[in-house]
Amino acid sequence: MKRFGKILVIESPQNCKVPYSRSLYIDSPEGVLIDSGSEPNALLEVDKEFGIGMIMNTHYHPDHTRYGYLFPNADKRINPIEFETTISMKNVAEEYALLQELGQSELHKWLESVPVEWEKSLRQISGVYEYNKEYSFGEVKTIFLHTPGHTKGHTCPYFPDEGVVFTVDYELSSFGPWYNGTDGDIDDFIKSGKKLLELDADIYITGHHKGILSKAEFTAAMEKYLSVIDKRDEKIEKYVQMGMTFEELATVGIFYPKRILEQNSIYRVWERCGIRKHLRRMGLSVPEKKEVI
Ligand SMILES: [Fe+2]
Repeated sequence: MKRFGKILVIESPQNCKVPYSRSLYIDSPEGVLIDSGSEPNALLEVDKEFGIGMIMNTHYHPDHTRYGYLFPNADKRINPIEFETTISMKNVAEEYALLQELGQSELHKWLESVPVEWEKSLRQISGVYEYNKEYSFGEVKTIFLHTPGHTKGHTCPYFPDEGVVFTVDYELSSFGPWYNGTDGDIDDFIKSGKKLLELDADIYITGHHKGILSKAEFTAAMEKYLSVIDKRDEKIEKYVQMGMTFEELATVGIFYPKRILEQNSIYRVWERCGIRKHLRRMGLSVPEKKEVI
């Protein structure tokens, strides 16, 4: 396990690809785990060796919260904006754009398919942490930075003394930025991405994929990552000029490959929600469907 002072990095299979994510552990009397979406055996090992007494969740998504239930006695907290979201899966469905893009019956089907362990983990979150306050866990100063864009309440934990920042879902994948729930925002995403570059830090740890990067590596990768937003704009604009309706645009594959869109309705929902955000931001409007004459 890679370690920066008292901060341990917990890895998962396939470079922490979804459905897993990377977690951090602060070796301290409080035994603080940051995010509980890592491979469960890796988390149980950490608990056995060091003890997990607190779980600080960066945001509510399942790949970051799913295994909290394995530690029923830990004090579990989330950011103050998303505490309300965790209270009911209906709130999660709303943030996931399911209510906006699917009918009630599809929504019920989704609610029935929610993994029980995720729901249980969210239900066990009993409080919040404060943004920008300096916490001390043992000797480790920790600041939970508010970095909206991916979700409204998304947090990046920053450790000023070690010069370490956990960038969570500012994860630099080739897919590009994900802001496809109703609580995601393109402009906020760009602002938060740039805010991370301004920190006095030289170790950037992503929640998925890349892993541990220097500031120079993170800066270069962030530029490339954010440029995916422009590419999406260009593609959408081209199709709008070709006269496509929204329904047609939603099937060409701006975010997800066509094959994925055909397989699973959740990706169709996120594709649609993401396209609406780009259209709105570019001031473009398209008819929903072709008019039948
Ligand atoms: Fe996420």
